[in-house]
Amino acid sequence: MSSARALSTFADVMRTFEGKNRVIDPLLASESHALDGGVLTLDGVGSFMNRASGLGLGGAVSDTTLASFEAFYAERNTEPRIVVSPYADPSLSEQLAARGFTFRGIEQVYAHRLDDVTTAPRAATDDVEIRRLDRDDPSSIELYARLATAGFAEPGEEVPESWRRVARKRALLPRFEAYVAVVSGEPVGAGGLCATCGSATLVGTSVAPAFRRRGVQTALLRARLARAKQLALPIAFTSAFAGVATERNAQRLGFFLAGVRLIFARSGEGLVGLLRR
Ligand SMILES: CC(C)(COP(=O)(O)OP(=O)(O)OC[C@H]1O[C@@H](n2cnc3c(N)ncnc32)[C@H](O)[C@@H]1OP(=O)(O)O)[C@@H](O)C(=O)NCCC(=O)NCCS
Repeated sequence: MSSARALSTFADVMRTFEGKNRVIDPLLASESHALDGGVLTLDGVGSFMNRASGLGLGGAVSDTTLASFEAFYAERNTEPRIVVSPYADPSLSEQLAARGFTFRGIEQVYAHRLDDVTTAPRAATDDVEIRRLDRDDPSSIELYARLATAGFAEPGEEVPESWRRVARKRALLPRFEAYVAVVSGEPVGAGGLCATCGSATLVGTSVAPAFRRRGVQTALLRARLARAKQLALPIAFTSAFAGVATERNAQRLGFFLAGVRLIFARSGEGLVGLLRR
């Protein structure tokens, strides 16, 4: 289990985050393959779970490893996509450049040491109530899967069903707690707390467009932070794409930027990439 002492540097914090993902990602994907200390996951056409992660954290990455990574996705008609840790061995980015991979985005990883958090779960505004859902109730799991993904849809569209499938699986992970935000009796947003592997990860925060900019995400983050502290976990994580309100809300709640993970992929004939970021 992670202890606060073992998390004193950014590198410790990022390695804890990466290590947890290596455990959780295969549980969410329909297919996974361990490779050289990392993991390759796949979950259907265009899924955000189609990605390699954790490569290069144990040292230099060989040409054979990269060839196996590419072959895994090529055999499944999927673009090879990889999330690169800031602490990956430099040989990984050299290999990716040599093989024609291009930069696709940044995932910011925020962390919060929980000895800094007050325990009272307090909403940012008085009219936002945060409720924990009953994981034994299938309709609660469905509500979570819908709300935690709905905010990512473009106007007039729905998110791919595969997103809801991942959210449902996540909601049933051991030590996962699903929360909804309720305003005037209406569920308007959701977020999860994954408390496995000795840390808390705050995932899947999404708020209905009509209820944004009134503190709903902030209330969801604050309640889960307080719960993580109550569970005696030493650290909480959340991640965000650059520019999304999450980065500012997380910073205001005392999260620090522990590191950025760079995403690379390579297009190819007959290979399907991400349907949606
Ligand atoms: C990102 C997201 C969850 C934010 O939810 P939200 O409930 O609007 O977040 P908050 O209301 O707590 O904060 C958003 C902004 O409103 C401001 N705000 C909060 N309460 C407010 C109030 N009562 N009056 C005015 N502004 C307020 C916050 O300060 C923040 O301002 P900033 O963006 O200028 O920094 C939401 O936009 C969303 O669902 N997006 C799509 C899915 C997504 O990207 N999820 C995050 C994945 S990392």
